[in-house]
Amino acid sequence: MRHIHFESDFTHQNPLTSSAHEASHSSTPLAGNPANTSSEPLLQNNASPEPHLLEIGTDRTCDCKPNHICCLTAKEWLKNQVGVWKFSYEKRDIRDKNVHPATYPISLARRVIEQFSHKGELILDPFVGSGSSLIAAQDSNRNAVGFDLSKKYIELCQQRIIENRGLFSREKQYAICDDARSISNYLSPESVSLILTSPPYANLLNRKRGNKSRKARSNDQLGKIEQYSQDPRDLGTMSLESYTNSMGNIFASLLPILRPKAHCVINVPDMWWQNERITIHVSLIEELRQRGYELRNIIIWDRTNIVNRIGIFGWPSNYITMGVTFEYLLDFWRP
Ligand SMILES: C[S@@+](CC[C@H](N)C(=O)[O-])C[C@H]1O[C@@H](n2cnc3c(N)ncnc32)[C@H](O)[C@@H]1O
Repeated sequence: MRHIHFESDFTHQNPLTSSAHEASHSSTPLAGNPANTSSEPLLQNNASPEPHLLEIGTDRTCDCKPNHICCLTAKEWLKNQVGVWKFSYEKRDIRDKNVHPATYPISLARRVIEQFSHKGELILDPFVGSGSSLIAAQDSNRNAVGFDLSKKYIELCQQRIIENRGLFSREKQYAICDDARSISNYLSPESVSLILTSPPYANLLNRKRGNKSRKARSNDQLGKIEQYSQDPRDLGTMSLESYTNSMGNIFASLLPILRPKAHCVINVPDMWWQNERITIHVSLIEELRQRGYELRNIIIWDRTNIVNRIGIFGWPSNYITMGVTFEYLLDFWRP
């Protein structure tokens, strides 16, 4: 049995249709379906030979001109032209590393969603974690689906979606507990208008935290393994080489479900490990290019406003910029 967890909004209405044929290119949000009060996860029979396509809206509900890539005004667009973005955390953001070790702010997800999609369109997060992208999609009237291997995180997403739900929203946000490698079973070709994600970072988190910055703060992550899981399918357990290859395989399988010229934004840092720079962003750019994506922009997420108490590294002989002070937002599109 495959465990399907979703943001329950329907009575007896499984958002996963029993066959690709039934649901092909569904573009109507299921706003008319009866409401469900239960938040029980759905169970889906994995033995079925048919793929289980998700019924979810994919089409614009705004009245923007066809050639516009988003609903932003010229003035709003202008702000995003500066390629260095800063965000603050808000109350709804999850910052407790015991709840999830690596979240991004809802405001980051919202800015990307508003730059690269229209109201009503479908956003996909293949590594959804605590569901920040789903909350941002909900806030900005987009349909969205997120996947994660961890049942715990999917339940967290589900709870956050329910808590954040507005009274009149037509758009749906689903969190599904499955491997990102299976996503193409759930979504029709060319149905997704934006992929936005922060993937795991190879096995670099899969070691005991003991660096100076953590020691100085004497926080309770010191000595812990800061990892999502030890599931072999978890990309966070892999060496950089197999990680890059798995990311390539996953993103190659996602390309056909992305609309032509639709964007795919991936948030990654580089890391220092034993005095060597691990250039995750370079590996990913090269890999995704080989898999048919075109790199359009690299946006820097400037984190200096949210990082406190930076220690001195390498002075006076070894100059190292601290990885935590910025991350990359790699913006590709499907050519
Ligand atoms: C960096 S976190 C995402 C955090 C998210 N942006 C947030 O704000 O909460 C990466 C997530 O990928 C998940 N993951 C790792 N391997 C996966 C796989 N093969 N399929 C689906 N999810 C996976 C992990 O469980 C983890 O929650």
